[in-house]
Amino acid sequence: KSSTDLPDRPEIFEFEGISMVEHFTKNWENVKNFQARPDDILIATYPKAGTTWVSNILDLLYFGKEDPKRQTTKPIYKRVPFLESCFPEMQSGTELANNLPTSPRLIKTHLPVQLVPQSFWEKNSRVAYVARNAKDNAVSYFHFNRMNKAQPEPGDWNTFLEEFMKGKMVFGSWFDHVCGWWEKKKTYPNLHYMLYEDMAKDIKGEVESLCTFLKLSRSDEEKEKIINGIQFDAMKQNKMTNYSTVLVMDFTISPFMRKGKVGDWKNHFTVAQNEQFNEDYKQKMKNSTLKFPTEH
Ligand code: A3P
Repeated sequence: KSSTDLPDRPEIFEFEGISMVEHFTKNWENVKNFQARPDDILIATYPKAGTTWVSNILDLLYFGKEDPKRQTTKPIYKRVPFLESCFPEMQSGTELANNLPTSPRLIKTHLPVQLVPQSFWEKNSRVAYVARNAKDNAVSYFHFNRMNKAQPEPGDWNTFLEEFMKGKMVFGSWFDHVCGWWEKKKTYPNLHYMLYEDMAKDIKGEVESLCTFLKLSRSDEEKEKIINGIQFDAMKQNKMTNYSTVLVMDFTISPFMRKGKVGDWKNHFTVAQNEQFNEDYKQKMKNSTLKFPTEH
């Protein structure tokens, strides 16, 4: 299949107050009415915050030992359905989730907290949320929109950054997303809030605290295996986690597993952009207690 056969890039529109594209709204009735289970684990993130990383950690923690073959035969997006997704010629996220044979079900979402199907809260399902510092998140999102034809055209970096600050991104404002979920934590104890930067600094410690949250005990040997499998290079080589099987993504523009670094924003932001961003950031985050280790 050549890129000329691919559908046009989608338009952004407002949906329930959030910028969206039709791939994530077309199946809305089923998303809204989705029936969660008490043992479901929802992996929630703003796009490009480390979703695939945490998805793979959880998949390995739960199924790595009993079914090691799934790591080499089943792409991560089939092991961990993307709840609101509804792409042409593919099973929707709700269908995939409803047909998952395993328990617990690992389910991915990028929805802002207020749009998450009610059933997850009613069933008290566990949620692992990952946030990534705004600047690296923006850079990663920019490259993702360049290479992924199912996303809107990002324009040049400066245009994209302005839109990012305005929240005109698919799944809305980064600020509202990370702060909204951070607030939720206060009233919903079954939410484990993680930072990409902590994972990059101390993945072992982060896996340990995930195990504590999930009440899992795993042997040192198993944990060691998991740590090896979730290294950036290992996941970049692994066809089942690197998204190389997805046709709408053009890896000649940028790979899905791009750099996996903290601080890559320094290679993208000009001094002026950085100053303007910092100013805007201070305003938008002034009412939140959420702090990232890499802010300056
Ligand atoms: P970069 O574009 O900065 O490289 P998501 O899975 O939410 O789409 O996020 C993708 C981002 O997470 C990409 O960031 C990707 O490289 C990074 N990532 C994925 N797996 C990783 C890993 N094992 N270690 C570090 N970063 C990882």
